[in-house]
Amino acid sequence: MLEISDDGRTWLLTGPTSSYAVHLTEGDELLHLHWGPRVALDDAEALAVRPLPEYWPFESPLDGREEYPVEGGPRFVRPALSVRTDERRGTEWGFERYETEGDELRLRFCDGGLSVTLHYRMRGDVVERWVTLDNQGPALELLRADSATWTLPDREDWRLSQLHGRWGAESRLARSPLTYGEKVIGSRRGHTGHQHLPWVALDTDATEERGEVYGCALGWSGTWRIAVAQLPDGRVQITGGAGYDDSGLLRLAAGESFTTPVFAGLWSDGGFGGASRAWHAYQRAYVIPDADRDRPVLFNSWEATEFDISEEQQRVLARRAAAIGVELFVVDDGWFGTRTSDRAGLGDWTPNPDRFPSGLKPLAEYVQALGMQFGIWVEPEMVNPDSELYRTHPDWVQHQTGRKRTEFRNQLVLNLARDDVQEYLWERLDGLLSSAPIDYVKWDFNRCFTDAGWPGGPYPQRLWVDHVRALYHLLDRLRAAHPGVAFESCSGGGGRIDLGVLSRTDQVWTSDNTDPLDRLAIQHGFSQIHPARVMAAWVTDSPNAMLNHRASSLRFRFVSAMAGVLGVGGDLATWSEEELAEARERVTLYKEIRPVVQRGDLYRLRPPRGGLSAVQYVLGGETVVLAWLQAQSYGAPVPALRLRALDPTESYECLETGEIHRGAVLVHHGLRVGLHGDLDAAVIRLRRI
Ligand code: DGJ
Repeated sequence: MLEISDDGRTWLLTGPTSSYAVHLTEGDELLHLHWGPRVALDDAEALAVRPLPEYWPFESPLDGREEYPVEGGPRFVRPALSVRTDERRGTEWGFERYETEGDELRLRFCDGGLSVTLHYRMRGDVVERWVTLDNQGPALELLRADSATWTLPDREDWRLSQLHGRWGAESRLARSPLTYGEKVIGSRRGHTGHQHLPWVALDTDATEERGEVYGCALGWSGTWRIAVAQLPDGRVQITGGAGYDDSGLLRLAAGESFTTPVFAGLWSDGGFGGASRAWHAYQRAYVIPDADRDRPVLFNSWEATEFDISEEQQRVLARRAAAIGVELFVVDDGWFGTRTSDRAGLGDWTPNPDRFPSGLKPLAEYVQALGMQFGIWVEPEMVNPDSELYRTHPDWVQHQTGRKRTEFRNQLVLNLARDDVQEYLWERLDGLLSSAPIDYVKWDFNRCFTDAGWPGGPYPQRLWVDHVRALYHLLDRLRAAHPGVAFESCSGGGGRIDLGVLSRTDQVWTSDNTDPLDRLAIQHGFSQIHPARVMAAWVTDSPNAMLNHRASSLRFRFVSAMAGVLGVGGDLATWSEEELAEARERVTLYKEIRPVVQRGDLYRLRPPRGGLSAVQYVLGGETVVLAWLQAQSYGAPVPALRLRALDPTESYECLETGEIHRGAVLVHHGLRVGLHGDLDAAVIRLRRI
């Protein structure tokens, strides 16, 4: 809901539990008024007439209070907007008008020929904000154009939560007190990056289920930055957008415009758990395509076969996958060009004639005849120097004249800002999806930008932004032309996970780390912002060959992977009959709990910190608990799990044991899960009776 004061200078957006208000002063300063629990327009107007504090000349009363601080004038905070023309730098804007369209509010300001429009839209309790810049004046350089600046209320002792990591160790939650100055996270790598998810949360005293939490998440899959600043008077602002540095995002010629990505903000008073559930609900309702459709159980060939693949061997795996109940069979890297290792073939998107002499169609049809969907792996934005594509078009990669072309994993990055590159990829991928009955594409991205140049092309800095736009365009075009095909975003695991890519992909590859114990921490972090519905997790072989050689039971591996979109990535050809039978049982169980896991509300009962950890999903009267015991020490009994979101006055049947539990007992005293020793795990289903 959007309400506007009679004088047209105070705007109030309201969601189911929260409100957001801004006010334009007589001097055309756009001030932040309120972000938090629901308030009335009268409350917002009362806030609007409160005078700004008076400061000595070394501080500005605007700092920490403006909705979108521009560079220039009496401001010392990090500007959200920084613009340079040949003559001057900074912005001195005047308010032009406000507009509404549906539930979207637009506040339009002008500085000469440059118009700056701030967009606001409430989606549930998530405020979506973005900015459009339209230049009708002389050319200018956009040094920085953030999507939004978020202002937190006056409180003491703010704490910052962030999701950090690296390859094989993504999205781990870190929580630390905020101190004066700035904390900056981001990526200068050309993709979202394994190092930080573009999300932060701020609280003062929240617990998992109680207290106020503010969160912000950016929908951008390229270079980005979020800066959290605690100002000299203790006020906190968060500003973020595309691009890492302030050294030039784009050049805007006369007549050109730029739209920033969306920066979404959420207030919740339900603690970290409540905030996560609100983020999940928002993504399922507004971001993720077809989120009401459950994702199938997949098999992926990567860990089983790596580059050593053949059609016959994939058929063997497919038969075994079908036998354990897999619904989608995905052939990973190695099926195309001369791709028999990571040294060659990227860019040549036609089936390897030695491995697939009649193309992919026979295998795809074979897989489908087994009752499964068929998927393939691609990495379209890359090229190996040893490929037909590179030999034909060496100028199609990002590079700078006279400088070396840095290879990572023996590959270079294609310059997707070029129309001819985009067209080539469209033709190849559209052709590929038309050549065989392909239901699923795992879209990978395995290196960062290092030589982001475009000799002879437009001002090179455009390339950072245009690469992402081209990726989005390509995905959108492929989705429109092949509506039955689902897409997975992968970047060496979780290197490209954000709201931008999630709005055009069906799930993401969470991490190349498939060790089921490490995964608990990775998944715990991931769940702070993103729902289980997109979090792909595979059961692989034991000991874990990729990362740490840790041995774990099939039960533990399955229960760990059941917390998201279950997949199997082990070498099924080597699994014993007993293992295959157990896998079949567990896949069947997952299919039963899948609607609750993928569409239910998530409650994190205990974080993975060494002993017992557990999550609970609730959908209507159905509850699923997944519990893991990392290690039992000193013979201590494993604590009971106090469940959430159950009705204390109702009774619940445990589908595993047939026992009837009273809701009040489960909520106040907990469920005993009967785990022992090391790396034990259980699935418990409860049904309200
Ligand atoms: C990185 C991905 O994360 C893996 O799952 C696999 O697809 C490899 N790339 C293939 O090269």
